Amino acid sequence: MKNQVLECFKKLFGGEGEIRTYFAPGRVNLIGEHTDYNGGHVFPCALTIGTYMAARKRDDRKLRFYSMNFEKLGVVESSLDQFLMGAEKNWTAYPKGMMWAFGQKGFPVEQGFDLVLYGNIPNGSGLSSSASVEVVTGVMLKDMFGYDSITMTDIALFGQYSENHYNGVNCGIMDQFAIAMGKKDCAIFLDTSDLSYEYAPVKLEGARIVISCSNKKRGLGDSKYNERRSECEMALAEIQKVKEVKSLGELTEEEFEQVKDAIKSPIRQKRAKHAVYENQRTVKAVTALKANDIALFGELMNASHVSLRDDYEVTGKELDTLVEEAWKCPGVIGSRMTGAGFGGCTVSIVRTENIDHFIEAVGSAYKEKIGYAADFYVVDVGDGAGILA
Ligand code: GLA
Repeated sequence: MKNQVLECFKKLFGGEGEIRTYFAPGRVNLIGEHTDYNGGHVFPCALTIGTYMAARKRDDRKLRFYSMNFEKLGVVESSLDQFLMGAEKNWTAYPKGMMWAFGQKGFPVEQGFDLVLYGNIPNGSGLSSSASVEVVTGVMLKDMFGYDSITMTDIALFGQYSENHYNGVNCGIMDQFAIAMGKKDCAIFLDTSDLSYEYAPVKLEGARIVISCSNKKRGLGDSKYNERRSECEMALAEIQKVKEVKSLGELTEEEFEQVKDAIKSPIRQKRAKHAVYENQRTVKAVTALKANDIALFGELMNASHVSLRDDYEVTGKELDTLVEEAWKCPGVIGSRMTGAGFGGCTVSIVRTENIDHFIEAVGSAYKEKIGYAADFYVVDVGDGAGILA
C-alpha cells in the first residue's frame, strides 16, 4: 500500500524533495464500551488495516490534500491561515484539526504540506478511521518538525483534543490511544482515569476476531454520543451529592446499588448502571483472558452487548441483528457491538473452523431482515502508528 500512496503522490505533486510515509491503524474494542469518558477501563487493540500517508513539507503555508478514498473530491486546497473549526466540509477536517491542535499545545505548524492518504478501514464503520487520520497526521508532524519531546501518548491526547474542540465530538481517549500505542497480538488494558495501561496478549487458541460491519452509517450518531456523555455527567453529579466520588468508573457494582436512588431519572440511572457494570466487566474480562478462560471472556462480551442494548440504548436493530444471529452460530465464543454504536460494527470471537459458516449464516439472515448486506472482516491485531521505512 505504501508504494501505491507514494506513486499517487508523485503523479499529483511531483517526485522532487523529501517525501516521507507514515501509517496509523484502525482499532477494535474488545470490551469496555462507553467507559472511557467515565473514568473506567477499556480493552481495545490496533488492527493491521489503517491509514497510509505520504507527505512533503512546503515552503509556504498552503495545504494540498488528496485522498485516494475520495477521488471525486480531487485535491482539496486550503492553508494554515484557514482553520474552520467545526465547519470543515470533508475528511480534511481531521488532518487540519490535528495541525490546529499541535499549535494549541505549543508545537506550532508553520509550514504547509502536500499530503496523500489512503485508508483501508471502511469509512463510518466505527473502526476509527477518523482517529487513524488524526494520529497518522500527528506522527507526521512530530517527525517533520523534529518535535522529539512529543510522546505517542501526547499524540493520542492531541488527537482527542482536536476531535473534541475542532470537530465537536466529545469523544474519550480510547480510539486515539489504541491507535497510537497498539502492539502486535496484544490488546491494551487502559485505565482512562490516569492513562496507566498494560498490554495483554490476545491468545485466542483456535479462534479469530471477526468484525461484522452493519453498513449502517452513523450520521446522527455523533449528537447521540454527546447526549449519552452528558447523561452520565448528570448522573455522576447526582451521586456526588450523596457520595464522594470522582467518576462512575470508581464505583463497584455494590457501591452503585447503594447510591443509585440519588439519580432522579430512570433513564440516567440506566446509563450510569451501564458505565459502572461495563467497567467492572472489563476488569473481569481481562483477568479471564490472562487466565486463558476464553469462554468467560466471551460471556462477558455478550453481557456487554445486552447492557449496551437495554441500559445504554446505543445498539439499534442492525447491530442487534448481527449480534443475535452471531449468538446462534456454532463456534461463536462471544459477540457484541463495538465502538460508539448506533451503526458501525460488531466484534465476534469465532472458532476458525466455523468462520465460513458464520459469515454465510449471519450474512444471509442480516440481508433478509435488514434489506442490505453486511460486510465481514477476519482481522489481525497489529502495531500502533509509526513512520514507514
Ligand atoms: C467512540 C469514541 C470513544 C469511546 C467509544 C465508546 O469510539 O470515540 O472515545 O467513547 O465511542 O466506547
